[in-house]
Amino acid sequence: MSVLVTGGAGYIGSHTVVELLNSGKDVVIIDNFSNSKPEVLDKIKEITGKDFKFYEIDYLDREALEKVFEENEIEAVLNFAGFKAVGESVAKPIEYYVNNVSGALVLLDTMKKYAVKTFVFSSSATVYGDPETIPITEECKTGGTTNPYGTSKLFIEQILKDIYTSDPTWNICILRYFNPVGAHQSGLIGEEPQGIPNNLMPYIVRVAKGTLKELSVFGNDYNTPDGTGVRDYIHVVDLAIGHIKALEKLEKEKKGLFIYNLGTGNGYSVLDMVKSFEKATGKKVEYKIAPRRPGDIASCYADPKKAREELGWEANLGIDEMCRDSWNYIKDK
Ligand code: UD1
Repeated sequence: MSVLVTGGAGYIGSHTVVELLNSGKDVVIIDNFSNSKPEVLDKIKEITGKDFKFYEIDYLDREALEKVFEENEIEAVLNFAGFKAVGESVAKPIEYYVNNVSGALVLLDTMKKYAVKTFVFSSSATVYGDPETIPITEECKTGGTTNPYGTSKLFIEQILKDIYTSDPTWNICILRYFNPVGAHQSGLIGEEPQGIPNNLMPYIVRVAKGTLKELSVFGNDYNTPDGTGVRDYIHVVDLAIGHIKALEKLEKEKKGLFIYNLGTGNGYSVLDMVKSFEKATGKKVEYKIAPRRPGDIASCYADPKKAREELGWEANLGIDEMCRDSWNYIKDK
């Protein structure tokens, strides 16, 4: 029996494959390298000393996907495939909905055909929109997403709920990620956004390296302790381990639909991040205060209690490790 990982060469997918292999699972990866590189697969083997099966296919390609299910005995699917750049999604909504929503539908339909009903979905805290209350619990209202990327996550969550209503023998876990940062401690895999990064940590590391001149801090007049935006940054290895715990939960429960926040519960401001990065790495991060970025909210951090109680999972790595590992991955590149 194998776990199928879509987007397994990507940032969060590759770290999760490492943890799956380390936990003794057989893994089948599919990836079309739309935002990842084939070398990542070798690095995963180097880190774990273990092998896996790989298919270079697009998850929208139903015929190719069916072949994967024909050739392997799949017990569960972890879906990391999808486009994730917020700004790009505003410019290319059709591409985002086709890839993220139609891709998920092709995958789920294929799972149904092969009677594979265990599914872990990569969702995002973005589904809470501008959160009603902070820290955010899983019971907080969802909706009010401000871009097609976020809305695609919301749509897929709804599709999963409808599937479960139609057939309660499905076994589904929706994981709402907060802000993933960091890289594997080996420095072999990490995040490599193409072009100029939009997210904070990839931008900070490039300023520290000298590839980019200075960080623009988007707004210092939010209702937060220092006026800059507060987020719940989580180390990608902690996030990856959250998936192992989610799978264990599904294996135990056999059926159900479960939703968990994966965050640390700690909020850090943009300036906290700059200072923490400088302290952890000894590198200077030049910055200037710039206008607010449209669509941004003041504060967003998780109440991680449900995942702790029901999955026995909590984040172990702190802000120093997040900064150190992000830097360690990029500094010699
Ligand atoms: C964004 C997405 C979210 C997605 C996540 C992926 C939005 C509204 N949300 O979250 O849907 O799941 O990325 O990681 O876009 N900042 C700066 N300067 C920069 C970059 C960021 O000051 O150059 C600030 C932002 O204003 C924010 C914080 O840093 O306060 C974090 O930003 P970012 O890393 O882009 O993540 P989110 O916006 O929280």
